[in-house]
Amino acid sequence: MATRQRRALVLHGPNLNLTGRREPHIYGTTTLAEIDAALQARAASRGWTLAICQSNHEGVLVDFLHEHFGACEGIIINPGALTHYGLALRDALAAMAVPVIEVHLSNIHAREPWRRRSVIAELARGQIIGLGWYGYLLALDALDHLVPGPDEP
Ligand code: DQA
Repeated sequence: MATRQRRALVLHGPNLNLTGRREPHIYGTTTLAEIDAALQARAASRGWTLAICQSNHEGVLVDFLHEHFGACEGIIINPGALTHYGLALRDALAAMAVPVIEVHLSNIHAREPWRRRSVIAELARGQIIGLGWYGYLLALDALDHLVPGPDEP
């Protein structure tokens, strides 16, 4: 009998579609497609399936969360600039009631003062910040650690 896979949502906010090309000295040269491919490979090896969404529009990210309401075990999100003011996104994440790992490619605490505030942080189970593309893989490992698999106690 096939075991049920755990499902995680991966959300990328505004401008992250340009990752690898925009401000590479800050965000690195790895593209979003490469990050998603690395995540998919890691997920497959850990027994997770992923649903991935990138949007430059907060409402699209909110709709994506609603589509998966009650049907996922964890969320990885880099909200981009919505980190700092996206209250509708914040409330939608809170409604999902599953562990949220907040990821940032850059160290938001070592940049402009306004980037230090995250409206997501208070509901995130944890943050992974400043480790570039590798932070996404660490976020998946964190979910894998936090959410027991179907065969685990
Ligand atoms: C970011 C940091 C945000 O401040 C910025 O608006 C981004 C990317 C990061 O991954 O470092 O778009 O979330």
